[in-house]
Amino acid sequence: MNLSERDHNLIWHPFTQQQTAAPNIAITHGKGALLYDEYGNEYIDAVSSWWTNLFGHANPEIAEAVKKQLDTLEHVIFAGFTHQPAIELSEKLLDLLPSTQSRVFFSDNGSTCVEVALKMAIQYWHNQNIEKTTIIAFKNAYHGDTFGAMSVGARGVFNRPFESYMFEVKFVDLPTDDNIEQVLADFTRIVQNNKTAAFIFEPLVQGSAGMLMYKAEYLDKLLEIAQQHEVICIADEVMTGFGRTGKIFATDYLQHKPDIFCLSKGITGGFLPLGVTTCTQQIYEAFLSEDKLKTFFHGHSYTGNPLACAAANASIGLLQTSVFKLQTLIEWQTELSSDLKSHPKIENLRQLGTIVAFEVKTDADYNLLQDMP
Ligand SMILES: Cc1ncc(COP(=O)(O)O)c(C=O)c1O
Repeated sequence: MNLSERDHNLIWHPFTQQQTAAPNIAITHGKGALLYDEYGNEYIDAVSSWWTNLFGHANPEIAEAVKKQLDTLEHVIFAGFTHQPAIELSEKLLDLLPSTQSRVFFSDNGSTCVEVALKMAIQYWHNQNIEKTTIIAFKNAYHGDTFGAMSVGARGVFNRPFESYMFEVKFVDLPTDDNIEQVLADFTRIVQNNKTAAFIFEPLVQGSAGMLMYKAEYLDKLLEIAQQHEVICIADEVMTGFGRTGKIFATDYLQHKPDIFCLSKGITGGFLPLGVTTCTQQIYEAFLSEDKLKTFFHGHSYTGNPLACAAANASIGLLQTSVFKLQTLIEWQTELSSDLKSHPKIENLRQLGTIVAFEVKTDADYNLLQDMP
């Protein structure tokens, strides 16, 4: 039996209807933008392995950093203990993030760093005995597959069985040139009752919704209103972070800075799973107390894994020294966009930094994300 057949007999794959899906392609190795299967066929990894990979597969610098870390410390419990790679990474991240960010909390993936952000925001108010419980999110949002992350995401075919278990969220439209005044009015109406705990958003691009892009200027207006009403603003930069939009973070395009950041995917250059949630000093201080009940009781076994932190340190190092490569990539993408623009099957072509997206006209009469029966 080949690898694909052995897989087929044993493994349940994500987002896959096992009965009808084609056999999974068994990848044996990767190099740069290419992946190779068990028969030596070559594939271009255009989705960057679910948007995680920044510098290509088997990047030698990141591989070397992980190998070095393997010989020293592979893992240690992160409650009561700490280590150099996590400290170094926290320093690096706080240098890159707005100066208002002051604390770094580790988890394992995009969903868990969002879960942490939501719990931090909710408990921030709880610890101060302030009753603020409403959460605002954008329609069509995707923030992950755990329950909190699902709750703040679009309700639809992917999470229908769980709908009655999710908490209530106020959804507002993604702002466009046509609806901005209405969105601002809807948003203001929600926050005016002073019961809103947090506003969570994917800055400038809703990735899983189909790379829906919106203007920094409009997000800025929403953040301004939110911050006037003391609503905690959570930027989910899981997809947009680490250069994807042309700046290190998509929120670098904004005047108003979020209170909490969610980071994952590209943070390790696509080598190892890691989630990070950062927050302001003000949020952090609401958890400092002689009262043990004000503690943030959250953690995962692999929190702050040293190998993942070592990969992230190497990856961020590369990001900082390869700004010119990022520019070159953006220029290639711009060239590609202008070539594709006139193609008769392509519509709504859009670009932000390294992200180019478009719709392909087909005969399908439904949108999988929104209208599938
Ligand atoms: C914006 C955003 N947030 C959160 C997640 C969830 O990340 P993970 O798949 O690592 O749980 C994703 C995944 O695509 C994402 O795009």
